[in-house]
Amino acid sequence: MRVCSGWRRFLLLLPVIFLFPHIISVLELHKDPKLEHRHQRQTKKFDHLVFGPAAGEGLLDRLQCQGTKALNKTHFSFSLRNSKFGNGISFVTVFTTYNSTVDSLVKSSSNEQVSVGNKSYNKVERSLAVLNTFISFIEVTMPQSSVLILTDPASTIPVHRNRVTLYPIQGEYSRDKLMLQRIRSYIVFLEQKLEEQSQFPGQISHYIFTDSDVAVVDDLGQIFKDYLLFDLALTFRNNKEQPLNSGFIAVRGSQDGIRRAKVFLQEVLQVYSSKYMKASRMLGDQLALAWVVKSHPSFNTKRFTRQQPFEEKIGGASVLFLPCATYNWTPPEGAGQFHGMPLDVKVVHFKGSRKRLMLESWNFLNSTPSSQLSDMLCLILKSGRTKYDF
Ligand SMILES: *[C@@H]1O[C@H](CO)[C@@H](O)[C@H](O)[C@H]1NC(C)=O
Ligand SMILES: *[C@@H]1O[C@H](CO)[C@@H](O)[C@H](O)[C@H]1NC(C)=O
Ligand SMILES: *[C@@H]1O[C@H](CO)[C@@H](O)[C@H](O)[C@H]1NC(C)=O
Repeated sequence: MRVCSGWRRFLLLLPVIFLFPHIISVLELHKDPKLEHRHQRQTKKFDHLVFGPAAGEGLLDRLQCQGTKALNKTHFSFSLRNSKFGNGISFVTVFTTYNSTVDSLVKSSSNEQVSVGNKSYNKVERSLAVLNTFISFIEVTMPQSSVLILTDPASTIPVHRNRVTLYPIQGEYSRDKLMLQRIRSYIVFLEQKLEEQSQFPGQISHYIFTDSDVAVVDDLGQIFKDYLLFDLALTFRNNKEQPLNSGFIAVRGSQDGIRRAKVFLQEVLQVYSSKYMKASRMLGDQLALAWVVKSHPSFNTKRFTRQQPFEEKIGGASVLFLPCATYNWTPPEGAGQFHGMPLDVKVVHFKGSRKRLMLESWNFLNSTPSSQLSDMLCLILKSGRTKYDF
């Protein structure tokens, strides 16, 4: 989900989305490249990697690169990965498919093929490729974790992977309600987990709710060990209007953690429904999230300007705020807001026109047996300024 510039432009185009229904995931609602393309004919979208300088050059706490060779070995080697990572962690993402008679009318546009490596994808396949790449990264960096795909019981998603489970939840997954439904699905999911826990106490799994256009590049299980007190964790950035990103929510799997996270999300849902329904297509959840947090009397929004994690009680929940720079790092989208990549980056979020880069990065990592995650991060750092064709 985008937090930074560009979304306003997209909001104006929302009605156009209805003309382009196809398989769609939450991530695609945020920015349909085709729409952007129509809107901004002058912006060239590339069908191959385009490299620029690696931002953050000379900064001590930022990744330094020579070509796509990382000068700082920040992450473990792809081949020497720690097979214990991810134990007791479940990733949860919402993904659904749509069928509509209108689809056949726009078949030609939705079947436009793009190629990444030696594979060719139509629109539907691209969306699934992003989901599969999301899963692949998790298999490498947190191999013991599982992935749960919350979805409309009516949709069939052809994903057959180890440790991946489709988790149907009844709801209204129409495009204009998807962000609202996403929070509802999270809440229903947490309710069910709470119930399961009361039946089988002692079996704890932590949950990390994410968009599916993210690459997990380090062990996220560590946050539950480093910060023992939080119930749920959110990612923040220094952005006045949208300081919180809804694309990453971690929930401690204890009874208290699940219950408090559920109550917190119910409040977000309530604020969303009562204040931000007009923005319900995509931004409502982030606006509601920020509203719930900022309306808390003791909350000091100045803390969003520093890149330090902090904890705060919001309502009954202890909320851990983690900097986007490390836990939700986005390839650069505009000049001025980009200062390179922290050495400890853990999640890369391929928002907007960066989905191709997500797939290209995965291919790069697999291209040679000795590929290092840190080298792949250099590839992302150098090519993330480019807008791609999907
Ligand atoms: C990262 O690599 C650069 C270039 O080799 C080096 O100067 C810098 O000290 C390294 N940073 C850290 C934190 O090790
Ligand atoms: C595509 O490339 C991969 C890796 O180089 C190779 O394993 C695979 O067989 C290729 N597929 C096709 C259809 O050429
Ligand atoms: C969508 O359409 C395809 C092809 O017509 C069909 O196989 C599939 O079952 C439909 N899915 C839903 C959810 O209606």
